[in-house]
Amino acid sequence: MTETVNIEIYADNLGVTQAIATQLAELVTAGTIILLEGNLGSGKTTFMQAFGSALGISTTITSPTFTLIDEYTEGRLPLYHIDLYRLEPSQVPSLHLEEYWRGRDFPLGVVAIEWASKLLNIPPNHLKINLSVPMRSSYKQSPNFELAPDKDEELLVDLPEERLIQLIAQGSSHVEMLRQYKN
Ligand SMILES: Nc1ncnc2c1ncn2[C@@H]1O[C@H](COP(=O)(O)OP(=O)(O)OP(=O)(O)O)[C@@H](O)[C@H]1O
Ligand SMILES: [Mg+2]
Repeated sequence: MTETVNIEIYADNLGVTQAIATQLAELVTAGTIILLEGNLGSGKTTFMQAFGSALGISTTITSPTFTLIDEYTEGRLPLYHIDLYRLEPSQVPSLHLEEYWRGRDFPLGVVAIEWASKLLNIPPNHLKINLSVPMRSSYKQSPNFELAPDKDEELLVDLPEERLIQLIAQGSSHVEMLRQYKN
């Protein structure tokens, strides 16, 4: 049976998300694969900004929605930041993302994939980070509440800073890494 470790954290403000990202950036090793999941605006890119900065990347990490893949090589480890939002699952295999964790054509680093639910073949060893906004009926009653019809438009949602963050490691190297996480 595959080994897994599951940690669930309730973040009541943005700083908690950033602190999780910072600690994980200290624990990751060459070959770590991070699969980020969560709705639009749940905080995947925000997480990656804090993560990248803790990895020693001084360039501001932006959303790779249009570029698909951004490579950062100035930190402790290379970071390959990918966003699959605009792709259909059937288009993803042609990106050959496995090249990033094979360690042959690219120096082995950290691969972080937003909208990882679009992957048809999930690498068996990975750290999944699931971000969600705990939804309360009071938000829906707010006049500002409107789900973004398209990603190009500004999110009109005036959501609070609360997030539920799940860290789920699968496979021995990722499990070993997450066991060192201090809650
Ligand atoms: N606790 C929190 N954790 C993360 N982001 C938060 C939190 N509280 C508020 N935010 C805000 O929520 C927004 C999250 O936007 P972000 O672009 O990171 O989401 P995303 O998941 O990458 O969305 P997309 O699917 O469009 O790529 C940011 O404006 C961020 O400042
Ligand atoms: Mg994003």
